[in-house]
Amino acid sequence: MDRSDHIFPSAGDETPGTSISRRQLLRRGLRGGLALAAVAGTAPLALGDAQSAEAAAPPFFGEHQAGIVTPPPVRVLFATFDLLTDSRADVAAMLQRWTAAGARITGSAPGNADGTSITVALGGSFFDRLGLQAMRPARLQPLPAFTGDALQPAFTGGDLAVQVCAAEATLATAILDEITTLGAGVVAVRAAQAGFREAVPARPRTTPRNLLGFKDGTVNGPFADGIVADQRVWIGSEGPEWLRGGSYVVMRRIVLDVAAWEQTSVSAQESVIGRHKASGAPLGEARERDRADLRARDAAGQLVIPVDAHIRRASPGRNGGARILRRGYNFDDSASTPSGGAGLLFLSYQRDPAQFTRIQSSLSALDALNRFSTVTGSGLYAVLPGTSEAGWLGDRLLSV
Ligand code: HEM
Repeated sequence: MDRSDHIFPSAGDETPGTSISRRQLLRRGLRGGLALAAVAGTAPLALGDAQSAEAAAPPFFGEHQAGIVTPPPVRVLFATFDLLTDSRADVAAMLQRWTAAGARITGSAPGNADGTSITVALGGSFFDRLGLQAMRPARLQPLPAFTGDALQPAFTGGDLAVQVCAAEATLATAILDEITTLGAGVVAVRAAQAGFREAVPARPRTTPRNLLGFKDGTVNGPFADGIVADQRVWIGSEGPEWLRGGSYVVMRRIVLDVAAWEQTSVSAQESVIGRHKASGAPLGEARERDRADLRARDAAGQLVIPVDAHIRRASPGRNGGARILRRGYNFDDSASTPSGGAGLLFLSYQRDPAQFTRIQSSLSALDALNRFSTVTGSGLYAVLPGTSEAGWLGDRLLSV
């Protein structure tokens, strides 16, 4: 386990900023079609204290897109799109519009204390549709079928994917509306999955709990350690030139049987996860950040962390050292769409999809959590590298 495994999302980064007036302006600007750059430039940026300033969101421009190693705000909309055209020029023009809108909306200028981000990625079918097979990354192959998957076509695949993260659901929706409008005639929304994270206090840093009531993100959770991200998340010289500085994102829409979980005793739940529910500590340990001892046995000779415990099956030691960056959100569609269910919108970022596939294969083969979970949607997308103010997202792919 490396040091980054103990780095948590800064809760301070997740708390809504104090720049409420700016956010209201932002929303009004989105709805009213105002030039948001002008709004941001003239509105007082009400960053109240050093903590908010420190939390100022990721700049839009840079080597990497924001929304990956940057701290996750409490809301996400993960949308997939189908191409309506095979015109590369039209797609390039749309990506230029999206880039301009992304910079304008997320505010590369200081003041975006909400951590708003827009992250654009391409599915394998994007390359087929546009006759770009020669440019398709070799690693961007469909994920294998995993035992237990019950995939619904609407929630699976898609030519493009856009992750919108924001501190408020209404803001994420407004941003996706704008992205969709700017793509009119070029793309159409295939699916848009909303997700949320528990809001955690600013200090001390804590790990949010998921719908099962367990802390989620203790290990391999969101972090901002450049060195580790270089090893684990960012595509380097092994990838095509146009994708270097990008990543791969895996989306899995996992419905959880929360009712059955709630009928399970806490100690049985703890055996399923391999961690204590209250503290988040690995079984047999006292503190959340203690290292899990996968070899420990109790007085009766039984493994303290059972053989099918989720954290054992997902651990790097079982999976050839594979580590991913998890940036998951909860979802709950049970009220609006009874068949939609509730569960985990699993999002992971890695430089090689095999990092995910190795872990998922281990989980599919044996994971006590499988009794409570059904995967209803899935996708793998190549996340474009960042861009500079002189360029646009995807320029190294589409301007050749
Ligand atoms: C079925 C829905 C899932 C739920 C409710 C869930 C929940 C959890 C929880 C509570 C933990 C322990 C705390 C932590 O370290 O964050 C954990 C750890 C982890 N999970 Fe999941 N998880 C799910 C699916 C997945 C999937 C699909 C993957 C990847 C294929 C995955 C990979 C991991 C990894 C790598 C860890 C850390 C393991 C370690 O301690 O080394 N999880 N998960």
